[in-house]
Amino acid sequence: MLGMHTVISRPSATPRQLDDYAVSAEFYDVLQAQQDATRVHRLYSGVVRGARLGVLDVGAGTGRVTLMSLLESEVGVHAVEPARAMRTSLMTRLASLPAESRARVTVHPCPLGQAELYEVADVAICHNTVACLSPAVRRALWPSIARALVPGGSLLLQLPPARLPDAEVVRLFPAQRIGRHEYGGRMVMSADGARIRTRFDYWVCAGRHLLREHTETFWMWPASRAEVIDELRPQGFLPWPDRTDASVLALTLDRPGSNRSRGPRRTTHVSW
Ligand SMILES: C[S@@+](CC[C@H](N)C(=O)[O-])C[C@H]1O[C@@H](n2cnc3c(N)ncnc32)[C@H](O)[C@@H]1O
Repeated sequence: MLGMHTVISRPSATPRQLDDYAVSAEFYDVLQAQQDATRVHRLYSGVVRGARLGVLDVGAGTGRVTLMSLLESEVGVHAVEPARAMRTSLMTRLASLPAESRARVTVHPCPLGQAELYEVADVAICHNTVACLSPAVRRALWPSIARALVPGGSLLLQLPPARLPDAEVVRLFPAQRIGRHEYGGRMVMSADGARIRTRFDYWVCAGRHLLREHTETFWMWPASRAEVIDELRPQGFLPWPDRTDASVLALTLDRPGSNRSRGPRRTTHVSW
């Protein structure tokens, strides 16, 4: 699930970020959540368990990283999610939590750059968020993350595809049954200039009868690990030397000179 810039299936007068995912949000969790929750846990839970100040979830979507962070840590969680459709699912999920967990999570209904978050977290996670940002928007995100983290804090980000696909790539989501209906979908990625056109097709069937179909198209921008590291370095981020999952980049904010006094941060060793 990707993208910030929907190019079809929507009225043009609505501000983009409010209307993005208007189609996809309905199908997002039923088609992808279970598999992705396992992945989110594998990739980030070790670092989140070591959080001592707060966790920042950049592009929280329907809340997979946010929920995992509430379960795996005892700190406050900041869920930043500008798209109304995704935030609606997130809010429903948070509303069902016990009061203790709900008290620890704050939802910011805007892009991170507008959230005014300063040194609120020692762990920041961008899961499946960076690929959908244009290079200019992506570069503007880094200073906002640096501001939201305390020195010594960790940033874990899922990398965009390193390059454009050579040919069309089709990924079929396993069909899911809800009552009498079966929900299906596929993602189709293809190169379009310097961008990746990413189309999501969804359908709902009752037996052999097609009840409805929907499509939403997003853009993605490729960027290599080296490019992303080069963009983050001027903000004070240094990459961790070891890594075993090629899809995730982990960095430490090495920025000196914070006024906040904090206890020593526990180092967590993670195996990916
Ligand atoms: C592809 S979705 C992924 C959602 C979630 N992280 C997941 O993996 O399920 C990317 C999310 O990033 C959000 N987003 C886009 N630009 C953002 C920004 N500048 N600050 C915070 N979130 C942003 C979008 O609204 C969208 O919900």
